[in-house]
Amino acid sequence: MRITYYGHSCFGINSNQQALLFDPFISPNELAKEINVDELDCNYLLISHGHADHIADAERIAKRTNATIVSNYEIVTWFAEKGLEKGHPMNLGGKWKFDFGTLKYVNAVHSSMLPDRSYGGNPGGFLLEIEGKTIYYAGDTALFSDMKLIGEYNRPDLAFLPIGDNFTMGIEDAVIAADFIQCDRIIGMHYDSFAPIKIKHENAIEAFRKAGKELILMNIGGSLEL
Ligand code: NI
Ligand code: MN
Repeated sequence: MRITYYGHSCFGINSNQQALLFDPFISPNELAKEINVDELDCNYLLISHGHADHIADAERIAKRTNATIVSNYEIVTWFAEKGLEKGHPMNLGGKWKFDFGTLKYVNAVHSSMLPDRSYGGNPGGFLLEIEGKTIYYAGDTALFSDMKLIGEYNRPDLAFLPIGDNFTMGIEDAVIAADFIQCDRIIGMHYDSFAPIKIKHENAIEAFRKAGKELILMNIGGSLEL
């Protein structure tokens, strides 16, 4: 499968003829200005929580692609009220078998309010089983000890963790999170897009290396094969 980075916490996963897109925040992101939102391929739009830096382009993409919006009940309902009725509502701890694989909506320690100040439900992350691989997309979150459950029972092959600090966990805590989830291969997200979350890439990579783990900081527009 192919993983592509679109900046901030937005990634595409292409697999089994399906295109998944996580947390689209592209057009307002100066760092992602080379990306054309209107060319992205998408069958499923996965939204971790309601903050604008995770849903900014969701409506535009869903309207064009007719993608299924997968998120918590409150967010899927909010989009349905805007006329985007192709949604799959979930809630924390629940999983569902989709045609691309199995997805579980898991805890995140954060907040969630939609741009019009509507209640966005509880924030979450996604645990994805796809093509025999387990992938954890943490969403925006603090470090929390229940991540150990993911390590004990799921052992992801790859994890997307926020590393930018201030709004989410920073590098130090993300290294601990990688340990809790028992994953050695981490893709960093939620960094550099705004002044308070700018990081020194070499320091972040080095902190993970010291812990025996690989931190991948993808180029925006860049892809990797898993
Ligand atoms: Ni957030
Ligand atoms: Mn955020």
